Amino acid sequence: MSRRDALLCEMGLGPLWKLRTPPAAGTALAPEPLPAALAEVGGAELLTPPLGAPGGDSPIAAMDWPQLEAAIRDCRLCALCRERKQAVPGVGDRQADWLFVGEGPGAEEDQRGEPFVGQAGKLLDAMLAAIDLKRGENVYIANAVKCRPPQNRTPEPDETAACWPYLERQIALLQPRLIVALGRPAAQTLLQTEVKIGAARGRLFDYRGIPVIVTYHPAYLLRNLTDKAKAWEDLLFARRTMAGLIS
Ligand code: URA
Repeated sequence: MSRRDALLCEMGLGPLWKLRTPPAAGTALAPEPLPAALAEVGGAELLTPPLGAPGGDSPIAAMDWPQLEAAIRDCRLCALCRERKQAVPGVGDRQADWLFVGEGPGAEEDQRGEPFVGQAGKLLDAMLAAIDLKRGENVYIANAVKCRPPQNRTPEPDETAACWPYLERQIALLQPRLIVALGRPAAQTLLQTEVKIGAARGRLFDYRGIPVIVTYHPAYLLRNLTDKAKAWEDLLFARRTMAGLIS
Protein backbone atom coordinates (compact mmCIF):
# COMPACT_ATOMS: atom_id res chain seq x y z
CA MET A 1 0.00 0.00 0.00
CA SER A 2 1.41 3.41 -0.93
CA ARG A 3 2.07 6.02 1.75
CA ARG A 4 -0.83 8.03 0.42
CA ASP A 5 -3.22 5.08 0.50
CA ALA A 6 -2.13 4.32 4.04
CA LEU A 7 -2.80 7.91 5.02
CA LEU A 8 -6.22 7.91 3.42
CA CYS A 9 -7.16 4.62 5.09
CA GLU A 10 -6.01 5.95 8.41
CA MET A 11 -8.39 8.86 7.92
CA GLY A 12 -11.20 6.48 7.06
CA LEU A 13 -11.20 7.79 3.51
CA GLY A 14 -9.65 4.85 1.72
CA PRO A 15 -11.91 3.97 -1.18
CA LEU A 16 -13.88 7.17 -1.10
CA TRP A 17 -10.95 9.41 -1.98
CA LYS A 18 -9.26 7.06 -4.37
CA LEU A 19 -9.06 7.87 -8.05
CA ARG A 20 -10.62 5.11 -10.14
CA THR A 21 -7.83 5.45 -12.71
CA PRO A 22 -4.95 7.15 -10.99
CA PRO A 23 -2.62 8.96 -13.37
CA ALA A 24 0.77 7.32 -13.77
CA ALA A 25 3.42 8.91 -11.63
CA GLY A 26 4.83 12.00 -13.24
CA THR A 27 2.18 12.28 -15.95
CA ALA A 28 -0.06 15.23 -16.44
CA LEU A 29 -3.44 15.30 -14.81
CA ALA A 30 -6.14 13.29 -16.52
CA PRO A 31 -7.39 15.34 -19.45
CA GLU A 32 -10.98 15.33 -18.31
CA PRO A 33 -13.09 17.86 -20.19
CA LEU A 34 -13.13 21.16 -18.42
CA PRO A 35 -16.45 21.99 -16.83
CA ALA A 36 -18.54 24.52 -18.68
CA ALA A 37 -18.18 26.78 -15.67
CA LEU A 38 -14.47 27.15 -16.37
CA ALA A 39 -15.28 28.95 -19.56
CA GLU A 40 -16.90 31.55 -17.37
CA VAL A 41 -13.66 32.65 -15.70
CA GLY A 42 -13.51 36.36 -16.21
CA GLY A 43 -16.98 36.28 -17.75
CA ALA A 44 -20.11 38.04 -16.71
CA GLU A 45 -21.67 35.07 -14.92
CA LEU A 46 -19.06 35.08 -12.22
CA LEU A 47 -19.89 36.63 -8.91
CA THR A 48 -17.55 39.46 -8.15
CA PRO A 49 -17.64 40.54 -4.53
CA PRO A 50 -18.29 44.21 -3.78
CA LEU A 51 -15.07 44.62 -1.88
CA GLY A 52 -14.09 48.07 -2.97
CA ALA A 53 -10.84 49.05 -4.58
CA PRO A 54 -8.03 46.52 -4.27
CA GLY A 55 -5.85 47.44 -1.38
CA GLY A 56 -8.23 49.98 0.06
CA ASP A 57 -6.86 52.65 2.38
CA SER A 58 -5.46 50.39 5.07
CA PRO A 59 -1.70 50.45 5.69
CA ILE A 60 -1.97 46.67 5.67
CA ALA A 61 -2.42 46.90 1.91
CA ALA A 62 1.20 48.04 1.52
CA MET A 63 2.81 45.46 3.81
CA ASP A 64 5.33 42.84 2.76
CA TRP A 65 5.21 39.33 4.25
CA PRO A 66 7.28 40.00 7.38
CA GLN A 67 5.35 43.20 8.12
CA LEU A 68 2.04 41.46 7.51
CA GLU A 69 2.83 38.51 9.78
CA ALA A 70 4.05 40.86 12.51
CA ALA A 71 0.88 42.95 12.20
CA ILE A 72 -1.28 39.83 12.46
CA ARG A 73 0.61 38.60 15.51
CA ASP A 74 0.21 41.98 17.24
CA CYS A 75 -3.33 42.61 16.03
CA ARG A 76 -5.90 44.01 18.43
CA LEU A 77 -8.54 44.98 15.89
CA CYS A 78 -11.26 42.80 17.37
CA ALA A 79 -12.17 41.06 20.60
CA LEU A 80 -10.73 37.72 19.48
CA CYS A 81 -7.29 38.99 20.50
CA ARG A 82 -8.31 38.85 24.16
CA GLU A 83 -8.50 35.09 24.48
CA ARG A 84 -5.97 33.92 21.93
CA LYS A 85 -2.69 32.33 22.91
CA GLN A 86 -1.31 33.55 19.62
CA ALA A 87 -2.54 34.68 16.25
CA VAL A 88 -2.21 32.22 13.36
CA PRO A 89 -1.22 34.08 10.18
CA GLY A 90 -1.02 31.24 7.67
CA VAL A 91 1.41 28.67 6.36
CA GLY A 92 2.88 27.49 3.12
CA ASP A 93 4.52 28.33 -0.13
CA ARG A 94 4.38 32.03 -0.84
CA GLN A 95 4.60 31.31 -4.55
CA ALA A 96 1.75 28.81 -4.38
CA ASP A 97 -0.76 28.33 -7.17
CA TRP A 98 -3.25 27.00 -4.60
CA LEU A 99 -4.73 28.89 -1.68
CA PHE A 100 -7.00 27.07 0.76
CA VAL A 101 -8.94 29.31 3.13
CA GLY A 102 -10.51 28.00 6.31
CA GLU A 103 -12.59 29.59 9.00
CA GLY A 104 -10.35 30.28 11.96
CA PRO A 105 -7.89 28.60 14.30
CA GLY A 106 -9.07 26.01 16.79
CA ALA A 107 -7.43 25.06 20.07
CA GLU A 108 -4.46 23.24 18.58
CA GLU A 109 -3.83 25.93 16.00
CA ASP A 110 -3.99 28.56 18.75
CA GLN A 111 -1.44 26.54 20.69
CA ARG A 112 0.92 25.89 17.80
CA GLY A 113 0.49 28.99 15.66
CA GLU A 114 -0.17 27.04 12.45
CA PRO A 115 -3.49 26.59 10.64
CA PHE A 116 -5.15 23.19 10.35
CA VAL A 117 -2.95 21.12 12.64
CA GLY A 118 -5.77 19.41 14.58
CA GLN A 119 -8.17 16.68 13.43
CA ALA A 120 -9.65 18.86 10.68
CA GLY A 121 -6.11 19.58 9.57
CA LYS A 122 -5.31 15.90 9.27
CA LEU A 123 -8.33 15.53 7.04
CA LEU A 124 -7.30 18.58 5.04
CA ASP A 125 -3.85 17.04 4.54
CA ALA A 126 -5.51 13.83 3.35
CA MET A 127 -7.71 15.81 0.98
CA LEU A 128 -4.63 17.57 -0.39
CA ALA A 129 -2.81 14.25 -0.76
CA ALA A 130 -5.77 12.83 -2.65
CA ILE A 131 -5.19 15.39 -5.41
CA ASP A 132 -1.41 15.09 -5.18
CA LEU A 133 -0.92 18.25 -3.18
CA LYS A 134 1.02 18.73 0.01
CA ARG A 135 0.96 21.39 2.67
CA GLY A 136 3.77 23.82 1.96
CA GLU A 137 4.40 22.72 -1.62
CA ASN A 138 2.60 24.94 -4.09
CA VAL A 139 -0.10 25.31 -1.43
CA TYR A 140 -0.75 28.11 1.03
CA ILE A 141 -3.26 27.71 3.86
CA ALA A 142 -4.88 30.66 5.61
CA ASN A 143 -8.00 31.40 7.59
CA ALA A 144 -10.72 34.00 7.41
CA VAL A 145 -9.91 35.02 10.98
CA LYS A 146 -6.44 34.71 12.42
CA CYS A 147 -7.35 34.33 16.09
CA ARG A 148 -9.27 31.50 17.70
CA PRO A 149 -12.93 32.23 18.35
CA PRO A 150 -13.75 31.13 21.93
CA GLN A 151 -15.17 27.59 22.13
CA ASN A 152 -14.46 27.32 18.40
CA ARG A 153 -17.64 29.20 17.60
CA THR A 154 -18.20 30.60 14.13
CA PRO A 155 -16.56 34.00 13.79
CA GLU A 156 -18.95 36.95 13.95
CA PRO A 157 -19.30 39.20 10.89
CA ASP A 158 -17.51 42.06 12.67
CA GLU A 159 -14.60 39.71 13.39
CA THR A 160 -14.26 38.50 9.82
CA ALA A 161 -14.59 42.12 8.66
CA ALA A 162 -11.85 43.29 11.04
CA CYS A 163 -9.56 40.49 9.86
CA TRP A 164 -10.37 40.84 6.17
CA PRO A 165 -7.50 43.26 5.29
CA TYR A 166 -5.02 40.56 6.37
CA LEU A 167 -6.48 37.89 4.12
CA GLU A 168 -6.88 40.45 1.38
CA ARG A 169 -3.18 41.30 1.63
CA GLN A 170 -2.19 37.64 1.78
CA ILE A 171 -4.05 37.05 -1.46
CA ALA A 172 -2.52 40.14 -3.07
CA LEU A 173 0.98 38.98 -2.13
CA LEU A 174 0.38 35.36 -3.11
CA GLN A 175 -1.54 35.92 -6.33
CA PRO A 176 -2.68 32.30 -6.32
CA ARG A 177 -4.13 30.83 -9.47
CA LEU A 178 -7.03 29.28 -7.59
CA ILE A 179 -8.65 29.72 -4.19
CA VAL A 180 -10.55 26.94 -2.45
CA ALA A 181 -12.90 28.21 0.24
CA LEU A 182 -13.42 25.62 2.96
CA GLY A 183 -16.86 26.11 4.44
CA ARG A 184 -19.35 28.89 4.62
CA PRO A 185 -17.53 31.55 6.66
CA ALA A 186 -14.51 31.35 4.35
CA ALA A 187 -16.71 31.49 1.25
CA GLN A 188 -18.76 34.39 2.57
CA THR A 189 -15.67 36.32 3.58
CA LEU A 190 -14.10 35.92 0.15
CA LEU A 191 -17.23 36.46 -1.87
CA GLN A 192 -18.89 39.04 0.38
CA THR A 193 -22.25 37.47 -0.15
CA GLU A 194 -24.52 34.91 1.51
CA VAL A 195 -23.35 31.47 0.48
CA LYS A 196 -24.96 28.09 0.89
CA ILE A 197 -22.31 25.45 0.31
CA GLY A 198 -24.76 23.05 -1.34
CA ALA A 199 -25.73 25.66 -3.92
CA ALA A 200 -22.22 27.08 -4.40
CA ARG A 201 -20.46 23.76 -4.97
CA GLY A 202 -19.42 23.05 -8.53
CA ARG A 203 -19.49 26.71 -9.53
CA LEU A 204 -16.62 29.03 -10.22
CA PHE A 205 -16.74 32.34 -8.45
CA ASP A 206 -14.38 35.19 -9.02
CA TYR A 207 -12.29 37.12 -6.57
CA ARG A 208 -10.58 39.94 -8.45
CA GLY A 209 -9.80 37.72 -11.40
CA ILE A 210 -8.88 34.67 -9.32
CA PRO A 211 -11.29 31.72 -9.57
CA VAL A 212 -12.79 30.59 -6.28
CA ILE A 213 -14.20 27.13 -5.63
CA VAL A 214 -16.32 26.41 -2.59
CA THR A 215 -16.45 23.14 -0.71
CA TYR A 216 -17.21 21.74 2.71
CA HIS A 217 -15.02 22.49 5.69
CA PRO A 218 -12.99 19.45 6.83
CA ALA A 219 -14.40 19.74 10.36
CA TYR A 220 -17.90 19.46 8.89
CA LEU A 221 -16.80 16.42 6.90
CA LEU A 222 -15.55 14.75 10.07
CA ARG A 223 -19.12 14.97 11.39
CA ASN A 224 -20.92 14.31 8.11
CA LEU A 225 -19.15 11.39 6.52
CA THR A 226 -21.61 11.00 3.68
CA ASP A 227 -20.68 14.41 2.31
CA LYS A 228 -17.07 13.36 1.82
CA ALA A 229 -18.01 12.05 -1.61
CA LYS A 230 -19.23 15.52 -2.55
CA ALA A 231 -16.06 17.10 -1.25
CA TRP A 232 -14.12 14.64 -3.36
CA GLU A 233 -16.07 15.78 -6.42
CA ASP A 234 -15.23 19.36 -5.50
CA LEU A 235 -11.54 18.53 -5.26
CA LEU A 236 -11.62 16.91 -8.68
CA PHE A 237 -13.38 19.99 -10.00
CA ALA A 238 -10.66 22.14 -8.43
CA ARG A 239 -7.96 20.01 -9.94
CA ARG A 240 -9.52 20.14 -13.40
CA THR A 241 -9.90 23.88 -13.05
CA MET A 242 -6.24 24.27 -12.09
CA ALA A 243 -5.19 22.06 -15.01
CA GLY A 244 -7.11 24.38 -17.30
CA LEU A 245 -5.52 27.44 -15.75
CA ILE A 246 -1.94 26.26 -16.16
CA SER A 247 -2.26 24.71 -19.60
N1 URA B 1 -10.48 25.03 11.20
C1 URA B 1 -10.19 26.10 10.44
O1 URA B 1 -11.05 26.63 9.76
N2 URA B 1 -8.96 26.55 10.44
C2 URA B 1 -7.99 26.00 11.15
O2 URA B 1 -6.87 26.50 11.09
C3 URA B 1 -8.30 24.88 11.94
C4 URA B 1 -9.55 24.41 11.95
